[in-house]
Amino acid sequence: MAVARINCYTLQNTLGGFLNPLNHSFNSKATHFRSRLHFHRHHLSSYSRKAVFCTATANTPMKDANEASSSLAEPFVLTTPLYYVNAPPHMGSAYTTIAADAIARFHRLLGKRVIFVTGTDEHGEKIASAAAANGSNPREHCDVVSQAYKTLWKDLDIAYDKFIRTTDPKHEAIVREFYSRVLANGDIYRADYEGLYCVNCEEYKDEKELLDNNCCPMHLKPCVPRKEDNYFFALSKYQKLLEETLTQNPDFVKPSFRQNEVQSWIRSGLKDFSISRASVDWGIPVPNDSKQTIYVWFDALLGYISALSEDTEEPNLQKAVSSGWPAALHLIGKDILRFHAVYWPAMLMSAGLSLPKMVFGHGFLTKDGMKMGKSLGNTIEPNDLVHKFGSDAVRYFFLREVEFGGDGDYSEDRFINIVNAHLANTIGNLLNRTLGLLKKNCQSTLVVDSSIAAEGTTFKDDVEKLVEKARVHYENLSPSSACEAVLEIGNAGNSYMDERAPWSLFKQGGATAEAAAKDLVIILEAMRIIAIALSPVAPSLCCRIYSQLGYSKDQFDAATWNETKWGGLKGGHVTSQPKPVFARIENQTEVGNGFEAAKKVTKRKEKLPQDQRVVEA
Ligand code: MSP
Repeated sequence: MAVARINCYTLQNTLGGFLNPLNHSFNSKATHFRSRLHFHRHHLSSYSRKAVFCTATANTPMKDANEASSSLAEPFVLTTPLYYVNAPPHMGSAYTTIAADAIARFHRLLGKRVIFVTGTDEHGEKIASAAAANGSNPREHCDVVSQAYKTLWKDLDIAYDKFIRTTDPKHEAIVREFYSRVLANGDIYRADYEGLYCVNCEEYKDEKELLDNNCCPMHLKPCVPRKEDNYFFALSKYQKLLEETLTQNPDFVKPSFRQNEVQSWIRSGLKDFSISRASVDWGIPVPNDSKQTIYVWFDALLGYISALSEDTEEPNLQKAVSSGWPAALHLIGKDILRFHAVYWPAMLMSAGLSLPKMVFGHGFLTKDGMKMGKSLGNTIEPNDLVHKFGSDAVRYFFLREVEFGGDGDYSEDRFINIVNAHLANTIGNLLNRTLGLLKKNCQSTLVVDSSIAAEGTTFKDDVEKLVEKARVHYENLSPSSACEAVLEIGNAGNSYMDERAPWSLFKQGGATAEAAAKDLVIILEAMRIIAIALSPVAPSLCCRIYSQLGYSKDQFDAATWNETKWGGLKGGHVTSQPKPVFARIENQTEVGNGFEAAKKVTKRKEKLPQDQRVVEA
């Protein structure tokens, strides 16, 4: 049974007098609104021509001709979603941002100019209600929660380049300009709409996707009947073009099973959607109709472009676009795929702008098998995690343990076991043992270049293969496998250490002790490579490794992926006084009683790893 009904209006003076830069074309097109049928036929054919032009360009259909000719120094723009400020961030929201930060850091290591965009989505009914529930006005509420995001990003070592708030006047100006372009292209009309609305999704729902009692499957709360007189975006007009675009770009949506999902949504028929709200005050007024505000999604998606505009210049859509659009990558959760892979491309086509090159939909972090979320109230507090365990542990666990693209469940026991085994033991302990031996036997000084030390061993080749594997995995948005490859270097180092047992070789003196000194160089060179290759995931830890190896923070910050090549450590180089880079977390929980219970009894102890005490004894 259909639950939604659209009654179209003819466009009267509401839109007719609207001033916009494309007004000359608008006036001629406005007549087409008068009949939905004419409107559809006419614009579909005219847009198809434009799309063919776009898709034919240099076999990179996500770019238009002008952008294709722009320089090679085009930035790598990647985005997280702009987070709703109805509540402070939770681990689910932190997850996308951690992943984006790791990818941004990797591309910076490759020497690219990266623009990493994040921010907050601050308009709409959900935010206004949250502010009212807090006894605050929406603006103050947004300031507080947006700041909470920024603080968490700092604590998690998130190095974003742009933080856009959708209440920023520069954003609002760009939304209005974009709206006017879409209007001028004949893609906005006015109609009545009646349907079931989920306030948490900020979306009208089809009755067939709802659970008993008309509950939203995501938020488990009943959707409410709504009837509104809204402005609509003619999404249906872009059906064919979207189908073609996805067929020609099998990598537009990743992972590929999500591309199939998107294609089947499109094939099943696209309905126009309302892009204004008559009942919501907290939003950007519809140009020329102050009784309506722009739908929060139509507004927020544009944050990806407005974020690019410089604060020092008058906000202007074209200037913002030329500062880096199209984005190379939108990282999002799977729940907002339809907005990014269907609505957003159609909106961009309508405005004559290029499409992003890729939309990657990751899975959900779950707790007790349920999606963790603000509306459900079953979140994990990222602040608690980061303050107890540090940013490296949190970042490493979620990137290593959740296959990017799929869902992943959190358990504190597993968290502690993984970070202890990988970061404290495999990496931290190996470094500390080796530096301890170097200090005791070689005055913390490398006896020979690492390239010479590795001659005649296969160790160097193994490390080079693994680091190349890690590069390919990062490149393919698979941070978990990248971590695995880097950890393999640590495992290889530990095996080498155990096989060679340099501590006993030193005791034999002469050439045997010289060989032991070379062994230490080999292992430390592997650690240097690990410090670069793992830095996208665990930047603070890697900076500490670098510092233990005797380098400055500036040297760490200037490192590039090229330096993962074997041979960086040279004879005569002096390392630092050995100090553990990652202290083991002691888990005193025998039987977990949920996250809260575990939290109370888990302590982080600053103590030396066991093996290290053995070495130094
Ligand atoms: N404001 C919109 C996005 C607009 S983008 C122009 C929004 N915000 S949100 O705060 O609700 O969600 C932001 C992101 O967090 C989404 O990608 C969502 O998938 C992600 N997550 C929210 N809960 C999550 C989990 N439990 N697990 C992983 N990510 C999840 O949607």
